[in-house]
Amino acid sequence: MKAAFVVEKEKVEIRDIEIPKIKNDEVLIKVKTVGVCGSDLHLFKGTHPFRKPPAILGHEVAGDIIEVGSNVKNLKIGDKVTVEPHIGCGECEFCKQDLINLCISKKTPGTPSWNGTFAEYFNAPEKVVHKINDKISYEMATLVEPLAVAVHAINRITVKEKDTLVILGSGTIGLLTLVAARESGYRSIICTDTQEFNLQMALKQGAILAINPLKEDVVQKVKEFTNGRGADVALIMADAKNIVDQAAAVVRKRGEVGMVSMITESIPVYPYSFVFNELTLFGAMTYETNDFIKAVEMINSGLDLSDFITQKIILEGSQKALNVLNEKKENVVKVIVEI
Ligand SMILES: NC(=O)c1ccc[n+]([C@@H]2O[C@H](COP(=O)([O-])OP(=O)(O)OC[C@H]3O[C@@H](n4cnc5c(N)ncnc54)[C@H](O)[C@@H]3O)[C@@H](O)[C@H]2O)c1
Ligand SMILES: [Zn+2]
Ligand SMILES: [Zn+2]
Repeated sequence: MKAAFVVEKEKVEIRDIEIPKIKNDEVLIKVKTVGVCGSDLHLFKGTHPFRKPPAILGHEVAGDIIEVGSNVKNLKIGDKVTVEPHIGCGECEFCKQDLINLCISKKTPGTPSWNGTFAEYFNAPEKVVHKINDKISYEMATLVEPLAVAVHAINRITVKEKDTLVILGSGTIGLLTLVAARESGYRSIICTDTQEFNLQMALKQGAILAINPLKEDVVQKVKEFTNGRGADVALIMADAKNIVDQAAAVVRKRGEVGMVSMITESIPVYPYSFVFNELTLFGAMTYETNDFIKAVEMINSGLDLSDFITQKIILEGSQKALNVLNEKKENVVKVIVEI
């Protein structure tokens, strides 16, 4: 089968590899669509914390089951599915609390023990495979995974008030977080981005204010909107060097800052603002299975996110798919690769 590998920094190659052989508890999926994710971009650019070339791209996937292992109970050939792309060891203290995202030896796609999803076929154990309603498109099903990241980020917030939420960075994850926050009852959601297209998209999806930090003072605008008080929570979904300080400056005393962006280098932070204003800083790593199930339910109930799909490219064009997201010369939110 064909699979798209990152073979060296910023170079993608289609290689012919064997179709995975499934184990008794696994299914084989004929892949229909996969999504290009920010973390694929990190692999592509050589900045991913643990995925290194040569590696198959992808972890967002939708397709049909074409083979089931002998121990598979609740799935059958022909089911339309998506995959929660991590497998816990089942033994560690985090797996025992259903926190696969924190498992110290979890398996993820695109590593030596599990192929990435940019391939014609993809295997996965039944426990991480989720059914998608027949009437939902493969593209929408592919968005379950990044939506689950957004649902998890919102679920990690402990501040009870839902008056004002600031989302710093309105790429795929930021925009999906806007949707998840809107659905969970946040009243005023303020988004930032350096791209006008993304800001327009945020407004269309219900943001009350969309701020371009290249043109306006984000802190001042948020303070004005909140009558000087500051927002309850700021979520970091962009990689700019000043982003933690900006987040700290837009939240109120005893507010929270959530770090979702994968910034894998040191950046400057002025820690005293966390002390003086008693702020909480938390991280959000992918999702728990409950977040993933919630995202599946949202998509299965017909949540329409088709606006977010800005490009569709075939597998052979995977190099272009990564370039589009990397260069951002054209308006782009989610690039879908069709297999
Ligand atoms: N924690 C997790 O589990 C998890 C999961 C997926 C992605 N991520 C990370 O989240 C981040 C966002 O992912 P994405 O897929 O949305 O990426 P993306 O590139 O689509 O979005 C980032 C957005 O930030 C904008 N931006 C750049 N500079 C900015 C600034 N100074 N202020 C505001 N916006 C700015 C860009 O224009 C872009 O729209 C990435 O770092 C990604 O690796 C984390
Ligand atoms: Zn993803
Ligand atoms: Zn574990």
